Amino acid sequence: MQVKGKNVVLGVSGGISAYKAVEVLRRLTEKGVNVRVVMTKAATEFVTPLTFRELSYHHVAVEMFEEPKGPMMQHLGWMEWADLFVIAPATANVINKMACGIADNLLMTMALSCTCPILIAPAMDSDMYTNPITQANIAKLKQLGVHFVGPATGPLARRNVGPGRLADPKEIAERALELLASGATWRRSALEGRADLKHLHILVTAGPTHEAIDPVRYIVNRSSGKMGYAIAEAAAERGARVTLVSGPTALPAPRGVERVDVESAVQMRDAVMARLPGVDVVIKAAAVADYRVREISAEKIKKEASGDELTLQLVRNPDIAAEVGKVKRPDQTLVVFAAETSDLVEQALRKLREKKADLAVANDVTEEGAGFGVDTNKVHLVFGPDRIEQLPLMSKRDVADRILDGVVRLRKEAGLM
Ligand SMILES: Cc1cc2nc3c(=O)[nH]c(=O)nc-3n(C[C@H](O)[C@H](O)[C@H](O)COP(=O)(O)O)c2cc1C
Repeated sequence: MQVKGKNVVLGVSGGISAYKAVEVLRRLTEKGVNVRVVMTKAATEFVTPLTFRELSYHHVAVEMFEEPKGPMMQHLGWMEWADLFVIAPATANVINKMACGIADNLLMTMALSCTCPILIAPAMDSDMYTNPITQANIAKLKQLGVHFVGPATGPLARRNVGPGRLADPKEIAERALELLASGATWRRSALEGRADLKHLHILVTAGPTHEAIDPVRYIVNRSSGKMGYAIAEAAAERGARVTLVSGPTALPAPRGVERVDVESAVQMRDAVMARLPGVDVVIKAAAVADYRVREISAEKIKKEASGDELTLQLVRNPDIAAEVGKVKRPDQTLVVFAAETSDLVEQALRKLREKKADLAVANDVTEEGAGFGVDTNKVHLVFGPDRIEQLPLMSKRDVADRILDGVVRLRKEAGLM
């Protein structure tokens, strides 16, 4: 679907990154999108309405009770006009008020009367972002079908580093354009749609495995677990019962998710296979070690005893995805990951075939912003040779939702939903 001629209301609230909204505006208007800007009073302390007026060719709305410019009553008229409401940056204040339905200024009144999709780009200090109040309200808004982009993790205004940084304006604009192009709708349909996983039990594996060498050493890989945890979180918010089989990570269990902690590949295999009969979907996001040490030393290996060289003999670990693929029922959906450094799509297609999977998520771990440890990812969703979706760089949480959308589509096509 075309985005040219579509209408976006861009809400700008009072954060230090308000100036970056100018770039979001520019990127949208470049694509032929009509943009009107509404600012909170606090936002005008950071950027003048004049800047947005000149770039949007429209009056910038700030005051609730000013004379309407033109025939539209501002809060209702603008929301009727809009195909999408983007709030970037969204302060902690805006997000928390929105989750409570507070309409105490023009931007908040628009948010409450909005019937089109809403995209929020949070930006705030890490302490505000990780505050359980903010987290609970973000979860509530997501569950209600509000879309989020970011935040990113990186340097913040107070020169500390952490989550809360506004997503890249390019990513915000791309997400907005995608939503416009998809013709997404909100409200009643989205409220029902977001509980679209309500009757499913989804098992997600995440993180690395630790393969012991001796009581103090192990072999590990670079997986942080972030992708799998984002999938578990998204699935729970969309109403699924979620079991997260997790290798060792530093991440807290997402709300409403049952976490099963394991260390090694063999333990992960046992945990997955024991639960397999009761689940509808298996999403294998863990980076399972391909090999383990043949004989784990009962004692710490001493360098004095081993000399200058030490040879460890490794044996193949179970291939969990293949084992699941072999025994899964036709009513079970299997999603595998292909983290590759070359021949991305071919490797994903091979995995899809060999593991009898329904969807392979392929990412090139050498690409900037994709792969281990970061909060973003850039993936291909490979359903088959003729059905490959290439997604732009986006937050792992957004990737998680796209994967789950793919699962829903597959199950609907198979008559399972
Ligand atoms: C210099 C400065 C920078 C600020 N940056 C942010 C920010 O990035 N995110 C945020 O949530 N609040 C930030 N605040 C606090 C908000 O401006 C404050 O909560 C305000 O009430 C938000 O109003 P609004 O949500 O109506 O725009 C900042 C305040 C100051 C003084």
